[in-house]
Amino acid sequence: MRRLLLWAAGNRWLATHVPRWRFARRAVRRFLPGEGFEAALKAAVDFRSRGIGALLTLLGENITDLEDAEKVVQHYEEVLAATGDVQAEISVKPTQLGLDIDEEAAYANLQRLARAAVKVRSFVWIDMEGSAYTDRTVELYRRLRTEHAHVGIALQAYLYRTVSDVATLMPLKPAIRLVKGAYAEPSDIAFADKKEVDANYLALAVFMLPEVKRHRLRLVLATHDVDLVAKAWRYAQALDMQRAELEIAMLYGIRTDQQERLAREGFTVRDLIAYGDAWYQWYLRRLAERPANVWFVARQLLPS
Ligand code: FDA
Repeated sequence: MRRLLLWAAGNRWLATHVPRWRFARRAVRRFLPGEGFEAALKAAVDFRSRGIGALLTLLGENITDLEDAEKVVQHYEEVLAATGDVQAEISVKPTQLGLDIDEEAAYANLQRLARAAVKVRSFVWIDMEGSAYTDRTVELYRRLRTEHAHVGIALQAYLYRTVSDVATLMPLKPAIRLVKGAYAEPSDIAFADKKEVDANYLALAVFMLPEVKRHRLRLVLATHDVDLVAKAWRYAQALDMQRAELEIAMLYGIRTDQQERLAREGFTVRDLIAYGDAWYQWYLRRLAERPANVWFVARQLLPS
């Protein structure tokens, strides 16, 4: 089922037609507060009142025209200016900034966002996409981090190479958002077995925690796997870390009760709020993460 859903995420015909179907639009609302930025901002304000920070992301990827990338950059510049009070951070996909067309243009766009973020003391995260982009994305981040402090990168625990990426980036005092990985990858580059992915996730987190303690790394555990978070916290305690030093991020609409619990307990929690109309691929990846969600979609077909 996971493979089928990830295949559907890459299918052009479905990508054009599914977003027009009313039941699909209804189902996607579970993971989006709304398509417009206003709904995302409102959700961010609401989370803040519950002690949870926000990470905003405008949906869209693999753009084919640099003018679209320019619109994305302008949009985020406005977002950063508008969200100073809620101290939201932003998260962007390199292919939404033009990586498929011109790597230098994508880099220049990232630089603009980093400059806009620092003005309002915000932060720019670079999402990690499929493995065809890993080398270029790590390189973009390496360059960006040498010039800007408020920038971070997502790294995927399902890739064998991630331990080496962490080691290579460490001298830069990086910010790393550790995720399990959301794409279909071949077994010669990625763990296929979920248990192995989970084990590698914990090993990577444990490897990085001492650097967090030494203030040489900002680490965000981006996972809904609260058992893994609890295990990482046991290691953090052994290092004498405080709860607020452990950062956790989850997606809007998923395990909100756990986000609230962790925030109440004193951990630093952020909710990634996605918005925009280009939700098809993103949404399919969310379904693939938990195929039981497909039943939720099926229920939307029934009259309410
Ligand atoms: P896992 O899949 O083991 O889930 C743990 C539990 O959480 C499940 O048992 C279930 O109860 C619940 N759960 C998880 N996903 C759910 C869903 N979709 N619906 C309902 N319940 C669900 N990936 C990537 O490749 N590049 C990136 O840049 C990012 N960025 C990113 C940011 C943030 C803040 C998060 C939380 C995640 C990402 N991801 C990502 C996605 C990530 O790689 C991964 O696919 C998902 O987080 C699902 O894996 P978990 O770590 O949650 O564990």
